[in-house]
Amino acid sequence: MIQKIKKAARIIRESSYTVAFTGAGVSVESGIPPFRGENGLWSKYDPKVLDLDYFYSHPIDSWEKIKEIFYDFFGKAEPNDAHKVLAGMEEKGLLKSIITQNIDHLHQKAGSKIVWEFHGNSQQLICPNCQTQFPVPEVDLTILPPHCPNDHTILKPDFVFFGEGIPEKAFEMSFKEASRCEVMLLIGTTGEVVPASMVPYEAKKGGATIIEINPEISVYTKTITDIFIPGKAGEIMNQLAGLIF
Ligand code: APR
Repeated sequence: MIQKIKKAARIIRESSYTVAFTGAGVSVESGIPPFRGENGLWSKYDPKVLDLDYFYSHPIDSWEKIKEIFYDFFGKAEPNDAHKVLAGMEEKGLLKSIITQNIDHLHQKAGSKIVWEFHGNSQQLICPNCQTQFPVPEVDLTILPPHCPNDHTILKPDFVFFGEGIPEKAFEMSFKEASRCEVMLLIGTTGEVVPASMVPYEAKKGGATIIEINPEISVYTKTITDIFIPGKAGEIMNQLAGLIF
């Protein structure tokens, strides 16, 4: 294992363009459960609550579950060592950008500047009609579903639902960064959700070395991963930091 980490550290030090691709696993040590696997959110809640059609046809049920999953603990999660090491790598010129599937905004909270949020983020709600955005702390979520003060339309979290398009800029930049990177750090993702999960394949196609950190194997491990480091994101990133900083 230590040999793998030393090899990964050398590759990162020698790389002139490293990009990270993160999933829910990078935030597990911040207390945010993953979607799949042991204690995954989808073993407690039906993913239909994040399906766009269901949200519009069953707004109360959807909003009750969405509030429990994403907003009851809103703002209470703090970045863990994995987020902090990635921010430190960017500051030292060892990481060019992060492409994240997460909506928790913890990479930015840790100090990362260039973060492409493939699924948006949970910081504001949006009115699907007038497109006005409302920072979550300014919305009263004791009464569900929340309505737009302008036109009374039911407000929607401004992150990407199943069946919804990916924010254009994030989509374009994610694939652009993937195609140009020399090294891609894959941290904490099952790789089961398209089109986000296509990003690492783009990096591989572009000739990047894929370094994966995950306690379990993923769809990438036996296909495109060059160095698989089994373990928790915070722990492994701390060991890497000790070798690259
Ligand atoms: N450190 C690193 N990885 C971890 C840790 C940890 N401490 N704990 C769990 N993991 C790994 C799991 O082994 C799993 O591979 O994190 C991954 C979590 O997988 P998912 O819950 O499927 O998360 P993700 O791949 O990001 O899901 C993609 O699915 O529901 C949608 O939009 C949602 O963005 C999400 C997308």
